[in-house]
Amino acid sequence: MVKVAVVEGDGIGREVVPAARDILAAVRPDIEFFDVDLGYGLWERTGCACGEETVADLGSADAILFGAVTTPPDPGYRSVMLQIRHALDLYANVRPIRGDTVDVVIVRENTEGLYSGIEWTEPDRSCTVRVVSRRGSERIARYACTLAKSRRHHLTVGNKANVLKSDCLFVEVCTAVAAHLGVPCTARYIDALSLDLLMHPDRYDVIVTTNMFGDILSDAAAYLVGGLGMLPSANIGERAALFEPVHGSAPDIAGRNVANPIAAIRSGAMLLRHVGDPASAAAVEEAVVRVLRAGIRTRDIGGTAGTREFGTAVLREVGRGKA
Ligand code: NAD
Ligand code: IPM
Ligand code: MN
Repeated sequence: MVKVAVVEGDGIGREVVPAARDILAAVRPDIEFFDVDLGYGLWERTGCACGEETVADLGSADAILFGAVTTPPDPGYRSVMLQIRHALDLYANVRPIRGDTVDVVIVRENTEGLYSGIEWTEPDRSCTVRVVSRRGSERIARYACTLAKSRRHHLTVGNKANVLKSDCLFVEVCTAVAAHLGVPCTARYIDALSLDLLMHPDRYDVIVTTNMFGDILSDAAAYLVGGLGMLPSANIGERAALFEPVHGSAPDIAGRNVANPIAAIRSGAMLLRHVGDPASAAAVEEAVVRVLRAGIRTRDIGGTAGTREFGTAVLREVGRGKA
């Protein structure tokens, strides 16, 4: 029995998650789903976006299927996403960029860096502390190297050690871990790396980087595969795992049945692999590809299908694959 917590969250999370959930339920009728309400909508209604009991509920699941939450840029509002990543210690944010001509995985450190939460505001300046620890760097480097060993055996360390002392430690630790685990490794400055990844994605296998660089690099890399509607992600810890699209709540298109559910559906496939069912994961991923090949697409990737229509088409394909 697999217990999956389902968080739709805000905006298009409420449209793309139901599509992904229906597909998971079809391939794995034994999954027990339970809904967890959190996010900006809940905050507007109750004054609390995510309480401690809510985090405990999430922590009780074998895996979490997550949509997106809206985070207003208000100094008094605490990001729910960061709260959950910290509370469940989801230290590895794994973002595969896969398409016809690209197969790269960005492994983003997910608990420190510029997201340390150590920040304060003075009358005329505001400060955020960028924390890079040996322990945090070691565990993310180990995760990235293990992944690289199961793929094409190469690690790139995205960094800005020419300017940031904190990245000197990050590069030193990643390089040492890679040498220890026998993974060839190249350090690249994040600015040049961003362009080179877009121009020559075939040069990369696994890219490990700090929190904020990984955030920006992954959205930019979505360019290689058709945009943000396509990219899934996993947030992995020792005792919990959360699967979500790379994109956010997209308030500009929310509630109109136009959002691309592929990122959410592929996140569902990553969840299946995590709970030990690679066959169902592959069935879902292949069904998505067959639907795309049949010319069914949402608006962001040049089609006219709605979120629900696309989801239904994948559901039909998954059924066909099983028959
Ligand atoms: P966004 O990813 O929500 O949207 C960026 C652009 O991409 C928008 O034009 C949007 O319409 C488009 N887009 C995103 N996903 C799409 C999809 N599935 N199909 C079609 N088009 C899609 O980023 P944003 O606009 O910068 O942020 C909106 C809100 O989401 C903010 O409050 C932000 O903090 C939050 N956010 C949350 C998460 C998360 O929950 N993990 C991630 C990113 C952003
Ligand atoms: C992401 C998002 C989050 C981040 C926000 C919503 C906290 O942009 O998951 O990429 O910056 O990590
Ligand atoms: Mn982001």
